[in-house]
Amino acid sequence: MPTKKPARSLAVVVLAAGKGKRLKSRLPKVLHPVCGRPALWHVLRAANAARPKRIVVVVHHGREQVEEAVRSWNITPEPVFVEQGEPQGTGHAAMVTKDVVDDCTDVMVLAGDDPLIEGHHVKQLLSTHRRTRSAATIITTRADDPTGYGRVIRVGTQLVEIVEESDATQDVRAIGEISTLFYVFRREDLFLSLPMVGTHNRQKEYYLPDTLPILIHEKKKVSVVEADMGGWSGLNNRAGLARVGRIMRERINARFMEQGVTIVDPEQTYIDVEVKIGADTVVYPLSILEGTTRIGEGCAIGPATRIADSRIDDGAQVTFSVVRESRIGPEATVGPYASLRPGVVLDAGSKVGTFVEVKGAKIGAGSKVPHLSYIGDARIGTDVNIGAGTITVNYDGYEKHGTVVGDDARVGSDTMLVAPVKIGKGAATGAGSAITKDVPAGALGIERAEQRNVPGYRKRKDAARGGAGKGKGAKKSKGERGK
Ligand code: UD1
Ligand code: CA
Repeated sequence: MPTKKPARSLAVVVLAAGKGKRLKSRLPKVLHPVCGRPALWHVLRAANAARPKRIVVVVHHGREQVEEAVRSWNITPEPVFVEQGEPQGTGHAAMVTKDVVDDCTDVMVLAGDDPLIEGHHVKQLLSTHRRTRSAATIITTRADDPTGYGRVIRVGTQLVEIVEESDATQDVRAIGEISTLFYVFRREDLFLSLPMVGTHNRQKEYYLPDTLPILIHEKKKVSVVEADMGGWSGLNNRAGLARVGRIMRERINARFMEQGVTIVDPEQTYIDVEVKIGADTVVYPLSILEGTTRIGEGCAIGPATRIADSRIDDGAQVTFSVVRESRIGPEATVGPYASLRPGVVLDAGSKVGTFVEVKGAKIGAGSKVPHLSYIGDARIGTDVNIGAGTITVNYDGYEKHGTVVGDDARVGSDTMLVAPVKIGKGAATGAGSAITKDVPAGALGIERAEQRNVPGYRKRKDAARGGAGKGKGAKKSKGERGK
């Protein structure tokens, strides 16, 4: 009877215990965001593509912060945390997971600070490892600048070892192929080689890459996946953080362009990893699209626009503006120079124009707030026109109050709507009014002193100043003018 091959099972171990000294930050290195999400989030997302039986996160520095962040991402299977104690190198970090991975056949070890890894890399790493029946398989790549990374030493085509920057000679430093810290091991081979790793290096640390020459010496197979990582960088310092951000942005923008989004200048367009954009939308330069933002089809976004955690429906336009936690309906227009603070809903075809701030307000379909207004805590009906300079006076120094404007109302320019106040359907307000009482439907609310005209005013004024006045020139005699 043929014996059945035992099922393979995978544990993914993500290393996140280091301090990240070189970043000089209070925030643990693995929590530094890249395109809107922490480095560790990107690594865990990629890890999930391998469908691991277990996910292990090795923690120490900033442990509480790291654990809290990971828990908030609701990952399945729920990650297990292992405290490393004082970190003594990547080999040591792998060693401390021994007991929690002992029911898996393979162990993948991923650096928590290398967010450029994607699901397809992880899948390729694992499939190569299993197909070649290797003891260990690693991903290597070409870096724009290999400084700081482990260099891949080969004899012929055969990998022999990884040499860290600090232990490398000039000749080794000239090697362009670098090792990532994306490794997968057969579990027995990982824990066979790890105890043999020493600390005979500049940093006096246990290096995970040192397992490779040990395995090779034991006549075990070590395989290499050469991956294109777009130039590659880790985020060991702030320059690396910027480089990683640029590479990830390029990937995100390329993906959107493939999906039919026009990005006028991808080098000046900043889109977070979870943003969604529909086809035929045009994103103009210097636009920053953040968080959970969803943009529909055929929209025009930017230039110079920041949209965070908002939803923009088909055909809407947002120009030179800031939009946060708001919803912009189809064909609505925003800007130039508008600020939508959290809690704004613009219905279909509505308009928020130049130098207008809106907060916690709903603006009905077809309604317009074209110029120089503040609309806060308000409900504006449909087809309303809000005159230039209108302000909802929503704060009395103690509490916020609401304003309601009925459908088809016409609010005159420079109206102060002193809340709580209600303007009825089809009602109007006189320009310059401070409206403190409700205006019934269809009525005009006007609050200002009657205008008084003073005839002959200018003539008397000029005479009192000693001559026929014509502005500034009036003081000069005719002969002097224009000299
Ligand atoms: C490591 C590799 C290097 C590779 C590079 C790719 C080693 C010795 N070097 O270098 O070959 O080119 O990644 O980016 O592995 N960590 C722990 N505990 C420790 C030490 C590190 O959890 O004791 C974690 C860190 O938090 C970090 C990751 O492991 O997330 C990598 O450590 P780091 O010090 O950044 O290694 P590199 O110098 O980048
Ligand atoms: Ca690193």
